[in-house]
Amino acid sequence: MEVKDSQAKLLRVLYYFWGLNPGEILTMKIGILAALPQEIDSIIGVLAKTHATEVGLRTYHFGSLHGVECVLVHSRIGKVAAASTATQLIDRFEVDRVLFTGVAGGVGHGVHRGDIVIGTELIQHDLDASPFFARHEVPLLGLKRFATDAKMNAGLLAAAREIAGGRGHSVHSGLIATGDQFFSSNESVSQLRSQIPDTLCVEMEGAAVAQICHEHAVPFSIIRTISDSADDGAVTDFSEFLHDVAGPYALGVVSGFLKSIR
Ligand code: ADE
Repeated sequence: MEVKDSQAKLLRVLYYFWGLNPGEILTMKIGILAALPQEIDSIIGVLAKTHATEVGLRTYHFGSLHGVECVLVHSRIGKVAAASTATQLIDRFEVDRVLFTGVAGGVGHGVHRGDIVIGTELIQHDLDASPFFARHEVPLLGLKRFATDAKMNAGLLAAAREIAGGRGHSVHSGLIATGDQFFSSNESVSQLRSQIPDTLCVEMEGAAVAQICHEHAVPFSIIRTISDSADDGAVTDFSEFLHDVAGPYALGVVSGFLKSIR
């Protein structure tokens, strides 16, 4: 009786802070994806795994992490790969939250290598169906930008501050721009800055995941660690960062986030 009372109290506290009903907390299943093995293998390594399934050249790993049911998958690179993987997570494996983690090129003022960006909005910088639709507008959805989930972002922000702050880096929240292009020249990054001035960072998957989640009404978040500055030095910086830092960062942030919601 006493145990039941204290469990009920705890659920009420979670309900108060998260705005979720207790049943939702108990049944939450989060799909976590990343474009590269270096960005997700560290998390797969600590998953209390129940099983894994192969679908369409991807391995979906099932289990729990810090008491939260998760499906983890390496999505592969680019918008099509990410959209297809997000669709499988939602439609086939019935996740009710989606979290994308990975690295990105820093573009915004004051966004430096090692910083973390939490996307509040996602845009496809390479989408242009003009003159039929406005530049960057997703045809027939009438949207240029997709908003991420504020509650998930709050949990991520706390976790990111702990990881980045401990290493002398900053956490930023704002617009992430996605496209099928690796930025690696001063010229292309300055063009993007003039086209979409409030962009904090560039990557190749986030807005595709955002569109799929929007279409399925699934809350989602996108978190990125800055590996390079999308400029002439991007290729070297990206490769080094991926090798040395991406894994521990991803594991730290995702673990902190999951602990905050369990
Ligand atoms: N991901 C990490 N760095 C990137 C860059 N410079 N361009 C696109 N995606 C990236």
